[in-house]
Amino acid sequence: MSEAQPKRGAIEAPGAKRRSQAHGGGRPALEGPLLSVEHVTMRFGGLFAVNDLSFSAGRKEITAVIGPNGAGKTTLFNCITGFYKPQVGRITLNHPSGPMLLERLDDHVISAKAGVARTFQNIRLFARMSVLENLIVAQHTALMGASAFSLAGLLGLSRYARAERLAVERARHWLDKVGLTSLADEEAGSLPYGHQRRLEIARAMCTEPLLLCLDEPAAGLNPRESAELNRLLLDIRDENGIGLLLIEHDMSVVMEISDHIAVLDYGKKIAEGAPAAIKADPAVIRAYLGEPDEEEAM
Ligand SMILES: Nc1ncnc2c1ncn2[C@@H]1O[C@H](COP(=O)(O)OP(=O)(O)OP(=O)(O)O)[C@@H](O)[C@H]1O
Ligand SMILES: [Mg+2]
Repeated sequence: MSEAQPKRGAIEAPGAKRRSQAHGGGRPALEGPLLSVEHVTMRFGGLFAVNDLSFSAGRKEITAVIGPNGAGKTTLFNCITGFYKPQVGRITLNHPSGPMLLERLDDHVISAKAGVARTFQNIRLFARMSVLENLIVAQHTALMGASAFSLAGLLGLSRYARAERLAVERARHWLDKVGLTSLADEEAGSLPYGHQRRLEIARAMCTEPLLLCLDEPAAGLNPRESAELNRLLLDIRDENGIGLLLIEHDMSVVMEISDHIAVLDYGKKIAEGAPAAIKADPAVIRAYLGEPDEEEAM
């Protein structure tokens, strides 16, 4: 394990895949896991929010990250998405163009170039914009790329017009997928909680990610909405073929749809495996229920 040397803004060159194969004698990028987290540590002063954490997430898989409150789950997402720079460790995304070391990249590069999208524990939509506008704004990087900040873009000439049309088509597709088409013109902030959560997922999917990170998407949902969420996430996994990383407290969601689960407690991984094994793991049960006190144990 070595101290990470955060080098902001660096992106692996197209030849990186070949180099990593040559140096590490390793596999081509597309054969490994989609995401590898290796020995990541994130400290705040003396507090180890994430402590020497390693795990991986596969393509076309739902990998859940669970654990009691304060276990370090959101901090882990903040490290993966570039909001925090871990003091130690490596986070590798096996991008089709070659491995990308996320701990070295700025957050906007991680979302725009690496293809990592996220939703937030506390919903972050543009509350005063319409539902549809939220989905168009999410695609601003593609639209700005097509306009090339040029007069042609401003005048709506062909390349920009095509990009704009595609952005609207993508937005309509995801509105339909999450069942919000009839509410396209409503203000996002006026929607019920469950709808806002689905809109956040649609917004993330409009960026066409390789990895979708969801921070408690079932929080505040009723059982019917949770069941709909399960179907939506399985659909995304199966139809879009991307990796999903899921933080969730609702075990009816986690156990039903996860392919793989990593359990954190006080920043450390205490268990990893398939749902059935995790459910029966004594360390996991202890972390959630606490140690029985002496009187109860007797
Ligand atoms: N910016 C920060 N500065 C200082 N401490 C922080 C910061 N962010 C998180 N922490 C601390 O790190 C620990 C992990 O927090 P985190 O939010 O990652 O937990 P979590 O597993 O997402 O919990 P929850 O299930 O309640 O959302 C907590 O003790 C928290 O107080
Ligand atoms: Mg959290």
